[in-house]
Amino acid sequence: MNYGYFDNTNREYVITRPDVPAPWTNYLGTEKFCTVISHNAGGYSFYNSPEYNRVTKFRPNGTFDRPGHYVYLRDDETGDYWSISWQPVAKSLEEATYEVRHGLSYSKFKCEYNGITAQKTLFVPKGEDAQIWDVKIRNDGDQPRTISAFSFVEFSFSHIQSDNQNHQMSLYSAGTAYNEGVIEYDLYYNTNDYEGFYYLASSFDPDSYDGQRDSFIGMYRDEANPIAIETGRCSNHVQTCYNHCGSLHKQFVIQPGEEVRFVLILGIGKGEGQRLRAKYQDVANVDAALADIRAHWDTRCAKFQVKSPNEGLDTMINAWTLYQAETCVVWSRFASFIEVGGRTGLGYRDTAQDAISVPHANPRMTRKRLVDLLRGQVKEGYGLHLFDPDWFDPEKADVKPSKSPTVVPTPSDEDKIHGIEDTCSDDHLWLVPTICRYVQETGEESFLDETIPYANGGDASVYEHMKAALDFSAEYVGQTGICKGLRADWNDCLNLGGGESAMTSFLHFWALQEFIKLAKYKGLDADVQKYTEMAANVREACEQHLWDEEGGWYIRGLTKNGDKIGTAQQAEGRVHLESNTLAVLSGLASQERGEKAMNAVDDNLFSEYGLHLNSPSFATPNDDIGFVTRVYQGVKENGAIFSHPNPWAWVAEAKLGRGDRAMKFYDALNPYNQNDIIEKRVAEPYSYVQFIMGRDHENHGRANHPWLTGTSGWAYFAVTNFILGVQTGFDGLTVNPCIPTSWPGFEVTREWRGATYHIKVQNPNGVSKGVTAITLNDTPVEGAIPAQPVGSINTVNVIMG
Ligand code: GLC
Repeated sequence: MNYGYFDNTNREYVITRPDVPAPWTNYLGTEKFCTVISHNAGGYSFYNSPEYNRVTKFRPNGTFDRPGHYVYLRDDETGDYWSISWQPVAKSLEEATYEVRHGLSYSKFKCEYNGITAQKTLFVPKGEDAQIWDVKIRNDGDQPRTISAFSFVEFSFSHIQSDNQNHQMSLYSAGTAYNEGVIEYDLYYNTNDYEGFYYLASSFDPDSYDGQRDSFIGMYRDEANPIAIETGRCSNHVQTCYNHCGSLHKQFVIQPGEEVRFVLILGIGKGEGQRLRAKYQDVANVDAALADIRAHWDTRCAKFQVKSPNEGLDTMINAWTLYQAETCVVWSRFASFIEVGGRTGLGYRDTAQDAISVPHANPRMTRKRLVDLLRGQVKEGYGLHLFDPDWFDPEKADVKPSKSPTVVPTPSDEDKIHGIEDTCSDDHLWLVPTICRYVQETGEESFLDETIPYANGGDASVYEHMKAALDFSAEYVGQTGICKGLRADWNDCLNLGGGESAMTSFLHFWALQEFIKLAKYKGLDADVQKYTEMAANVREACEQHLWDEEGGWYIRGLTKNGDKIGTAQQAEGRVHLESNTLAVLSGLASQERGEKAMNAVDDNLFSEYGLHLNSPSFATPNDDIGFVTRVYQGVKENGAIFSHPNPWAWVAEAKLGRGDRAMKFYDALNPYNQNDIIEKRVAEPYSYVQFIMGRDHENHGRANHPWLTGTSGWAYFAVTNFILGVQTGFDGLTVNPCIPTSWPGFEVTREWRGATYHIKVQNPNGVSKGVTAITLNDTPVEGAIPAQPVGSINTVNVIMG
């Protein structure tokens, strides 16, 4: 069963039936102001932080998907009313037709009902801390119609906790005022005139308004049947205290065939409502702002476009996976529809991985994130597992954030820096390949020499920071020489402490390989030698202690008592995805062991919805292994199809040269391929999710927690760099694909350092891997293609065989 389709020409997902089994969401905003919005227009806006600067309220995880950013319409001749989004009024789908188009950083809602076609486009213009609602109402009938339009948002007390608890300081210290077409909402306790001030403005002169939620909705009612809509007028009520809303009402008499258009603006900052009201009264400015958003994504998407025989892959790589990956780089994990932003800050490992995917599309933000992470690293080499980048930003150090009275205070310096007991064994290691990737893409080698402070004092060059990370992992090893698991490795629920993590040692090996390439490129021989020796030691320890001969795969680790996790002897947690894929991805495993390990992955972990994280799930609590053994079977880290490491398997198979297998794994997880089984999947088909219920759970196949997952960055990186094999390295651009044998070829357009490369790959002999000839502008090339002049357009022909 499906609820919509991909419109690739417009890069939109079109929802044709609004009664989707879960809200399907989108992210609006490319800078500081963001709205997470569902296809029902449910959701919330925030400025910078959904924890501290929430502009509108949202009740998460209910069956309501409310409140939201609504426009109600009312036929003033009959009193009949509806909303442009299906919810909250929810007209019968027999009577009304709804269509929602989620695009890149905008969402369009359309409703046809009773001779009226209404549309609402929501987006956040670049350069403004506000959300625009561009509303159009057309009379499709042959009689004039008298239609009232009402907006509705529920203002937030700015802090998530106060919203949830109606903390009394919040309830009694915020108020609304009405000022010439603008509902102004003042967080009285917040002395900052910008952050402490929200508004809803209209381009029209309202006929009535409401600033008090309960006046608008009325007691014992809800957003589906507000009293103001029923009576056709707001109460013109604004005041201090209680709960607040922004509703602006205007009646229009619309002639047959006529379309009226108006704009609503939701934003922050005292006086801003008046300024933007004036600006967007000229709808040419609205059109220009939306065109700007489109151009923003055109530019980014143009960096890498593919045309292959796999339509799902093209659709996702050319738009949605890049879009999702960048959303993660910008909003990390703190602005979701599900976990709803109670925790602002960066997860060290998540951001370090996300950032590997978009240095070509958003080098500025990638660089910012790298600097954030480097400042969040301690001189001992590990990363602070969760931290707010503002803590270590010298420009923000003296600025006392004006946060709400219920906020958790900014921690003391001591509390910011955690010790080894709270350190994750993998966090810092992800940073190394990501920095290499950034420099390869941008050519900004001077970044490596930039001095950046450590979180706990002292400073060093970026290059030295990288060495500190590698050295930390060389030092924190257990008895067998495998990295200690510490609080957790990539798997938050595998808490080995002094036990040992195979996954971390394989990751260490990968980071070392990437670093050695860099050191070689820079001609730093002493480092090449030191880290090559370190890598050799890691390899030896891994091959000696982590291979399970009987099973023919790599184990997951050892408990502090030396018990192996993930052997053929075990009934639970026998085969694991992370260790086997990283053993191959890192280049540590030999071809022979690599193939065996990945065969075991296919045999034991594959399902039609993707690869399970481990199988069988753990059924017996064992605190030496960790919390994973106390998670329900088939759920999250315990035997679900945990999406994030799935692309590691695609890279592993690509490295082994098994393109059919890589594509089989890719296709299974690709949300696009689940568009027609939404009764199973439930979640959006344009977004990867954190996990899909595994076969040990009754809801096997149900996808959970869309959008903010490291899967998107990894999926993008894996497909572009390893399956399609277009890589930009220190020496130039290389093309070394690993594709299904059935593919006759594919084409990629890649922009790199200001030049364009039209790459055409032909596969006349139906191989998966191997390049026999490559030409640049008809001239044969050996090795990498050096960066071509800025502005040049180049043709690259690649013959596989
Ligand atoms: C969540 C976390 C991520 C972790 C993963 C596995 O996605 O955000 O940091 O690696 O779970 O536990």
